[in-house]
Amino acid sequence: MIIIKSEEEIDAMKRAGLLAWELMEAVEKMIAPGISTEDIDVFVEEMTRKRGAISAPLHYKGFPKSICTSVNEVVCHGIPSRKDVLKDGDIINVDVTPIVDGFHGDSSRTFLVGNVSPSAKRLVECARRCLDLGLAAVHDGCRLGDVGAAIQRHAEGQGFQVVREFVGHGIGREFHEDPQIPHYGTAGKGLRLTRGLVFTIEPMINAGDWRCEILEDGWTAVTIDGKLSAQFEHTVAIRHDGRVDILTLP
Ligand code: MF3
Ligand code: CO
Ligand code: CO
Repeated sequence: MIIIKSEEEIDAMKRAGLLAWELMEAVEKMIAPGISTEDIDVFVEEMTRKRGAISAPLHYKGFPKSICTSVNEVVCHGIPSRKDVLKDGDIINVDVTPIVDGFHGDSSRTFLVGNVSPSAKRLVECARRCLDLGLAAVHDGCRLGDVGAAIQRHAEGQGFQVVREFVGHGIGREFHEDPQIPHYGTAGKGLRLTRGLVFTIEPMINAGDWRCEILEDGWTAVTIDGKLSAQFEHTVAIRHDGRVDILTLP
């Protein structure tokens, strides 16, 4: 069931989105070799609480931490740990989802740690561009397949692959609402996206095979071939005047 939001509800979601953006900006400044993924988790949890907000991932379906930290071959849902220390050449996705006044704002970025290889940089830039192209495809009345096709065309054109097992999602009072937003597809096909719809676009782009496997912890998704994966995420709304608003940007 798709929950259409009123203009007032989208305004409230913008406040959650803006906190997600501020968290991302602050995290960007602390990324460096030698910090642990737990350090990032503690920082985000404290900043979120100071703003009177709640970290949605904490205890979500049993998830043990406040953010997801996904390093190198981890596709998504990496669990922060003191044992996970960033080193020169790593790439790390940090995914934050604060709840403000009952509404979720969901955003992630992949950061470069120190000096990263040209091939890893190319993957990260591709993932960033895939998100931008997906967002650019969103219009009042467009089709779901337009978004996925734009992303898939770019990723595969660069020699990379799009993860299938994890998709974008509707978002609001619930973390994950309908509809699912695949990052692959056929232009002109699928659900029509209309005013009042709020959802995420969060393409995961793999250097090699698109398939993932889940580690023993029940959360950490890794590439099956051990190659790198990169991801960026925004929450976006189609407002009632037809304007497309990226809620997790100022
Ligand atoms: N933030 C992730 C997303 O973009 C979901 C994380 S679920 C968690 O949908 F439980 F791992 F936190
Ligand atoms: Co999301
Ligand atoms: Co997210």
